Parts: sequence; C-alpha cells; structure tokens
Amino acid sequence: MPAEGFTFGTNRMAMISTATEIDIQRVKQSRLPETDLANPKFGRVFTDHMLVWDFADGTWQRPRIMPFQDLELSPATLVLHYAQTIFEGMKAYRSQQGDVSLFRPQANIARMNRSAKRMCMPALPEDAFLHGLKELVRMDGGWLPSGEDGSLYIRPFMFASDEYIGVKPSEGYRFMIFISPVRAYYQEPLRVKLELEYSRAFPGGTGEVKCGGNYAGGLYPSKMGQDEGYHQQLWTDAMEHKYIEESGTMNVFFIIDGVLTTPSLDGTILPGITRDSILTIAKDKGMPVAERKVTVDEVVAGLRNGKVSAAFGAGTAATIAPIKVIAYKGEDLELPDLGADSEVHRLGRMLDDIRKGRTPDKYGWVVHVS
Ligand code: COI
Repeated sequence: MPAEGFTFGTNRMAMISTATEIDIQRVKQSRLPETDLANPKFGRVFTDHMLVWDFADGTWQRPRIMPFQDLELSPATLVLHYAQTIFEGMKAYRSQQGDVSLFRPQANIARMNRSAKRMCMPALPEDAFLHGLKELVRMDGGWLPSGEDGSLYIRPFMFASDEYIGVKPSEGYRFMIFISPVRAYYQEPLRVKLELEYSRAFPGGTGEVKCGGNYAGGLYPSKMGQDEGYHQQLWTDAMEHKYIEESGTMNVFFIIDGVLTTPSLDGTILPGITRDSILTIAKDKGMPVAERKVTVDEVVAGLRNGKVSAAFGAGTAATIAPIKVIAYKGEDLELPDLGADSEVHRLGRMLDDIRKGRTPDKYGWVVHVS
C-alpha cells in the first residue's frame, strides 16, 4: 500500500506497550476551531488524527498516529472485492470530573479479535491496541461535544490490504482507528419492522461477528423498510422467521410480563457490549431478567394484549433507543410512551451515571484517558 505522502515520526514517539512504539505526527493546525460541535451529523465529522497500523511480513509493524486523511488504494485491494473487513464501535465520554473516559474498551478489543479469527485476519495485541487508542483519544479529546448527549464515537477497523483479486485471505492488513464527535444516533422513538422475508444472518455464518458484509446484506431490506416509514428492521431467524434476533444497528430488549427479556446469543446475534452492560446492571438491581429465544408470535400477541409493555434497542451508537412501533405483516403495533420514570429510562440513566463518573464504577468498566 502506498505511503500517505509524508514522513512519519517527525514529532515524537510514544511507547504503546513494552514491545511497540508509536510514531506520532500532529496536525499543523487543528480543524476544531472551525467545527460546529453543537449539532454534528452522526458519523460525518472527524477529529484531527487517526491511528494506522499495518500488518506485513507476518507481523504488526510500527503504528502511527497522523493527521486524519484519505487513503490511497489500488483498485485490486482485496477488501474492495471480497469484504474481508471487520470493525468496532466504542465511545468516550466526559466524566463529571471533567476528564475523558472510554467505556469498556477491553470488551471491544476482545470482540474485535474474535471477529478477526472468524474472518481469517491476524489478532491485534490487546495491550498495544488499548494504549494506541488511549493515545489517540488523549490527543483528540478536546473534540468531545459538551452536554449530556455528547460523546466521541470511536471506529477501529481492519481490512485486507493485499493487491490481489484471487479469493484467499490477504497476507497484509491495515488496522485503523478514527474518531467522530457525535450526539444521538436516533433522534426519536423508533418505528421498526419485523422482517419476515429477508435475513441478516444464518447458523454457521458471520452474524455474531462485526464484519462489514453483515451490514451490506441488510441494506436492501432496510431501504425498503425505510421507504415504508420504518427506521430499522427487526431481524428474525433465517430458518423459520419465527424468533426475533436483533436490529442490525443494535440489540433488542422487551419488557414482557415485567421481565426484561432479550434474545439469547446463539451465533447469529452480535454480542453487544451495551446489551451485556444492561443485563449486568439489571440483574444487579434485582430486576427480573431473561435471555432466551423470543418468538415473533409472543411479541405480537404481547403487543396486542399489553403483556409487552416496552421495547428498546441497545447499542454503542444507538445507546438505549426506545421503540414505539413494531410493524407486523403491514400492521403497526404501538407501544405505550415511556415516561422519564420508566424502567427503560432508569436503566439508561444508571448506565450513563457509570460512564460519566456520577456513580462508583463497581464493574471496572471505565478507562480514564486524561
Ligand atoms: C455501533 O453501535 O457501534 C455500531 O456499530 C452500529 C453502527 C452500524 C452504527
């Protein structure tokens, strides 16, 4: 892969693990002063720097942090043809004390390495990943939008970088991290459509890993749903369209008969870190919780007879996103409005209080950066 057109290592070097050093080149002039952080469109604004780490000759090379910029790629770059690429999404928050903290980055790193294994890609050294991430977030922490809904959305990703169009795993890879200052992903309670025709994932496939192809395959049905006025599909299992799985940009939860219920992880559902955090907090607070198969029929019946009292999506980007309509075979089934005191909003506040240092972090989830 061609170099980006400037010399690295001109500014300084930082150790990111005992084995790895990082070359750092800062922007000459930050774009921050001319950036409006009051209302950034989700994922459209990027901070000053990015991390680049190449895998070549069977080993990870020296990582670099450099000004955020375009990539130059050969048209034959493998990822462009066969989608050998994985990514993560994580967030940094400003704590009550004013510092910038990452939320459960080790969980994202571990998941990324599980994705790497499934997609035949090299594992990332976890300590070096975390230290590089912290260094980048420390450098661009000033981009964190103020206010309760502001955060830095962090996008680590890795792709096959060989210039070759035979179908085989790449020998070279590029791992990168860049950052986007964000506010809410969804601006309003969601209208979702139970998808009973197309599938996102199937047994033995890649549903539980965070690879680009999972998302590409969902675009067409999602576009059709959006044309009908729905924000997202509610994916069901590929074999029978009988069980609810997830929503593509988020995991899904229901309150059924007072029990916080979410589809169990069975290989076709992304093991969300927000999902896990919600389950942990809810169990700890003594809420009745169930991870099990959730059928379309029980949710549809429960929406009709009031046994399903709430539904929401949970994800890094989506955070906790209340669902107000679930469409089933052309019928919009409505959920009651959630008041500020609802269990769903209370769970959301408990999670936020940990992320933002307003409550003791008894789980060890928060990693301080600055
Ligand atoms: C995330 O929540 O981080 C995701 O990766 C969802 C994304 C497709 C916006």
